[in-house]
Amino acid sequence: MTTALQYNDISEIVEADRAHLWHHLIQHKQFETVDPRVMVEGKGIRIWDAKGKEYIDAVSGGVWTVNVGYGRESIAKAVYDQLVKMNYFANSAGSIPGSIFAKMLIEKMPGMSRVYYTNSGSEANEKAFKMIRQIAHKRYGGRKHKILFRDRDYHGGTLATMSAGGQDERVMQYGPLAPGFVRVPHCLEYRKHEQDGAPAENYGEWAADQIEKVILAEGPDTVGALCLEPVTAGGGVITPPEGYWERVREICRKYDLLLHIDEVVCGVGRTGTWFGYQHYGIKPDFVTMAKGVASGYAAIACCVTTEAVFEMFKDDAADPMNYFRDISTFGGCTAGPAAAIENMRIIEDEGLLANTVRMGERTMANLRALMDKHRVVGDVRGKGLFCGAELVVDRQTREPVDEKKVQAVVADCTAQGVIIGASNRSIPGRNNVLCLSPALIATADDIDAITGAIDKALTKVFS
Ligand SMILES: Cc1ncc(COP(=O)(O)O)c(C=O)c1O
Repeated sequence: MTTALQYNDISEIVEADRAHLWHHLIQHKQFETVDPRVMVEGKGIRIWDAKGKEYIDAVSGGVWTVNVGYGRESIAKAVYDQLVKMNYFANSAGSIPGSIFAKMLIEKMPGMSRVYYTNSGSEANEKAFKMIRQIAHKRYGGRKHKILFRDRDYHGGTLATMSAGGQDERVMQYGPLAPGFVRVPHCLEYRKHEQDGAPAENYGEWAADQIEKVILAEGPDTVGALCLEPVTAGGGVITPPEGYWERVREICRKYDLLLHIDEVVCGVGRTGTWFGYQHYGIKPDFVTMAKGVASGYAAIACCVTTEAVFEMFKDDAADPMNYFRDISTFGGCTAGPAAAIENMRIIEDEGLLANTVRMGERTMANLRALMDKHRVVGDVRGKGLFCGAELVVDRQTREPVDEKKVQAVVADCTAQGVIIGASNRSIPGRNNVLCLSPALIATADDIDAITGAIDKALTKVFS
């Protein structure tokens, strides 16, 4: 077998995969009888697998990442030029792309000030958690250390982020988890009938009030921060109900909570604004981001803070413990910010935020049409090019369809050459939401092809 990236026989690649690769989030027994999927090429919104089959990728690399689409030579070139000049030095020193991207990023985030580089969404969230804990020690003798997270939200696969994990199927069997993380109820209005005491009206305010109840039960002097996704992603594409964020803001002020917004999915254009929180007039203390920051052309994640947070870590320089004593080795890689600079330029020059709004509206209109046609579509939700359709057996009871059927819809779309997503090993009995997050370059024809495939798949699976 050749060691170069060029190869003559794809079957060697597939066999090496079968023999030695441990894929993410997949039960491998199936690969004893079927070939693992190997993706070999991408251009724009399309990708090709090892068998030469072409797909429209309606999930931007499977997990809402490749925001500017595949095959961007200008990003590859920017990364190449940077790597041959200076590939790495620990981030205790700066770098040219690191500084430039930090400035560009902060210009898109009024009120925010400092960028801490790291390599994954989980790690960015861990950095925020550590900063929150250290602030609790500095200001409150460690007492106000608890971090609230929300049912159905996801913040990563490391032990601390799983401890802040609102998706039980991602957490089961991996305990014991880290202490000091406390769950608050979700804000999915479509499932409010499953929440005790949820009102017919003003649900958003009520859902936020449930956070206050948890704070009071825990003791406000023990709760330091609230960590939320602006729009919940893998937990079922949950757009916040009206009145929710206004009340959340009040609660954070009232109880002196730091607000940590996890923009790992929503960040850098996905919802049609640079950041998801910017739809809701929120003033976060921490914003974490990863996937779309460099569209997967290089690994990069950021934990962004306000200047007020940053100041807390330098107020007493005489104390040798009084700064953020943390490092992320690959947070010093320069490929990430080099790719991110070019990624951001592309989004601006090609008007991709505006396209995301337009194509998001088209996606939602098409999904509503599917809802009119297929009784199994109980609810559709979305913001920008981040949309979902919840499948139910019965619109009255809202009983979720069996997740095998949800997977059958995904499989049928794949067979048609369209890769869509679905909530997966997330909420027990509630993995029933189809997910769409195509690249921000999607055209009207792409969107129609994606929803057209879903239409056919729903007809086939449920007729
Ligand atoms: C909202 C959210 N936060 C954090 C993460 C974790 O990011 P990573 O897989 O890069 O660690 C994810 C991953 O899907 C996510 O969806």
